[in-house]
Amino acid sequence: MRFLSIDKIEPGSYLAKPLYSSKGTIFLKEHFQLTEVLLSRLKKLGVQGLYIEDEISEGIMVDEVVSVQLRLEASAKLEDIIKNKSNLAEMQPIISNIVDSIIEKKDVIIQMQKLNGHHTYTYTHCINVGIYSICIGAKMGMDREQLIKLGTAGILHDIGKNNIPVEILDKPGKLTKDEFEIIKSHPVFGYNMIKDKIEFSSVTKIGVLQHHERCDGSGYPRGLKKDEISLYGKIIAIADTYDALTSDRSYRAAYSPFEAYEYLMGDRDSQYDISIINVFARCIAVYPVGSCVKLSDGTEAIVIKNIEDCALRPVVRNIKTNTIINLAHDKKYLNVCITKMI
Ligand SMILES: [Fe+2]
Repeated sequence: MRFLSIDKIEPGSYLAKPLYSSKGTIFLKEHFQLTEVLLSRLKKLGVQGLYIEDEISEGIMVDEVVSVQLRLEASAKLEDIIKNKSNLAEMQPIISNIVDSIIEKKDVIIQMQKLNGHHTYTYTHCINVGIYSICIGAKMGMDREQLIKLGTAGILHDIGKNNIPVEILDKPGKLTKDEFEIIKSHPVFGYNMIKDKIEFSSVTKIGVLQHHERCDGSGYPRGLKKDEISLYGKIIAIADTYDALTSDRSYRAAYSPFEAYEYLMGDRDSQYDISIINVFARCIAVYPVGSCVKLSDGTEAIVIKNIEDCALRPVVRNIKTNTIINLAHDKKYLNVCITKMI
């Protein structure tokens, strides 16, 4: 199987994984054949891409670090909390399940299919930020309890946006200075919403408050610098930026994981903490399994395995000859690199 953006999927292709609705029910079953009408409807619904079965990707399996069902359950619960249909404490067992899933699959490099629908972006983004944050924390050696506190801060990081007028949050054009000042108040709003709740630890609360602080002092609300920012605040800042970059927005298309990786690497040691960026680079699939790539020797190949510590040099399979090439360890290919995704 491989993941293809919705624009690249040919009518007649078969689904390799079920497609779920935002409520967690199966919308289309595995092996379902996609028609032109259905593909255009899915695109309108905000589906970025799908896992499909084809000859090129035969035998390739994609293991997601947290199941789609659990992410959808978390997203639906967060929506209920924000709409005051559930209380914050009800999120805790779901966060524990996410942490357990990540601990169990600690060697799986993060590869997550974007969940569907423009209207659920706010919630799915928060869940993704929680998941990326927990993965970074796990790679740094945090224990289960610390990961739950970190994941809670990641998932709740933008809860203060509940107090920002929707017209400002969803404004398609550039924000005015005054509107941006209002947006900038959301970390403080979020902190105030949870600061008196004893079920949340102080590190969680501070993480929510500081997720827009930047190491060079350019962030908000306080313009804190490097060592003044908490570890959780720094981790969530990276997770938040990466997920926002790799998501389709009304004003731009999603960056590929490679482009987002380059963005973060290019900015490391200014806005973001270099040591955490380096940990994150070991967690993410820069070229996800199932991506088709062109090598510098002209070979077209498909990624079949990611290698930790070697984000840019995965194991690939030549599309024409089926030869397996380990770009990280195959001596014959040390001077060959991936030039682009195709
Ligand atoms: Fe935020």
